Amino acid sequence: MLSTAEIEKLTDNLLLVLRQQAGDPAMFGSLCKELKCDSEDLRRSIELLQQWEYAIDLQPDRVSFLAAPDLLTATEIGYELDTEFCGTNIAAYRSVKSTNDIATQLAQSGAAEGTIVVADEQTAGRGRLGRQWHSPPNTGIYLSIILRPNFDAEKAPGLSIMTALALAETLKPICGDRMKIKWPNDVLISGLKVAGILTELTAEREKINFVVIGIGINAKTKRDQFPKDIRAIATSLTASGYPNIRRADLVRELLTNIENEYRLYCAEQLSPSLDRLRAYSSLLGRPIKLAFGQNIIEGIARDISSDGSLIVEKDGLLTSVVSGEVSVTSERDC
Ligand code: BTN
Repeated sequence: MLSTAEIEKLTDNLLLVLRQQAGDPAMFGSLCKELKCDSEDLRRSIELLQQWEYAIDLQPDRVSFLAAPDLLTATEIGYELDTEFCGTNIAAYRSVKSTNDIATQLAQSGAAEGTIVVADEQTAGRGRLGRQWHSPPNTGIYLSIILRPNFDAEKAPGLSIMTALALAETLKPICGDRMKIKWPNDVLISGLKVAGILTELTAEREKINFVVIGIGINAKTKRDQFPKDIRAIATSLTASGYPNIRRADLVRELLTNIENEYRLYCAEQLSPSLDRLRAYSSLLGRPIKLAFGQNIIEGIARDISSDGSLIVEKDGLLTSVVSGEVSVTSERDC
């Protein structure tokens, strides 16, 4: 009889074999042969898959894979993930305080670049500027990725908008032109926030030790599940009219896009991406109020530069700001 760990390994292998059959039933005898197990352990594995909420059709002598659950497990995210380093190591949890905190601990103990931490729920999810990130179970994607860039800390702020661009490329096939990036790191659908990014840097002097990029996506949250104070400004993919989201598929796509954008960023910062960023921007050409540090500037958002700064025009003068909080002053920001 196999141990629990061995059964889990067998179950992962069984899942791969069943998936490759794409709906065709597999005979018990040939499965036992292929997986090198006896029929008792095969049955235990099938039961485990059913416990994990996989839809499996079980007949006396055969079994078929029908559908995978919408779970953020390492198996589901890793299935057919075609990246070189983003997501090669996946730490997946049902519930954590904050995936950014766990990613920071892992990075401090030497976790490799591209390691991700993902959770179905966060009990103390953190947003920018000390805010809370509402992170209920079964609805959202809470993901942190560890990066170890080889450039100086002054280039780190642009990683937030680089990640926003990767998110935009991921959501564009679903939401089309309704989806915009609000500099520096919010993603909006029709003006409402669907995703946010929290970038945390650990550096000594100017040398980056590691960066943790935390991404929160409201995937399936219903309108009335949002806390009252953000209901008017937040949305989810489901609430915006896209109900058939599989979160693991979205994460896989996102990891691929982060890897692509990060490669570009390491080579030339945002220079090769500026046209796409401009096209996705919800702010350019609009009157804004921008708070940064103790300062506030009101002007017209004119451009984004290759280091990720927003360029604002006031009284004919251009000011470049690397990070801040923006509101559109005289129209809805959509
Ligand atoms: C913001 O828009 O304020 C940023 C929100 C970032 C939320 C994500 S969810 C995964 C990661 N873990 C956290 O505690 N925060 C980030």
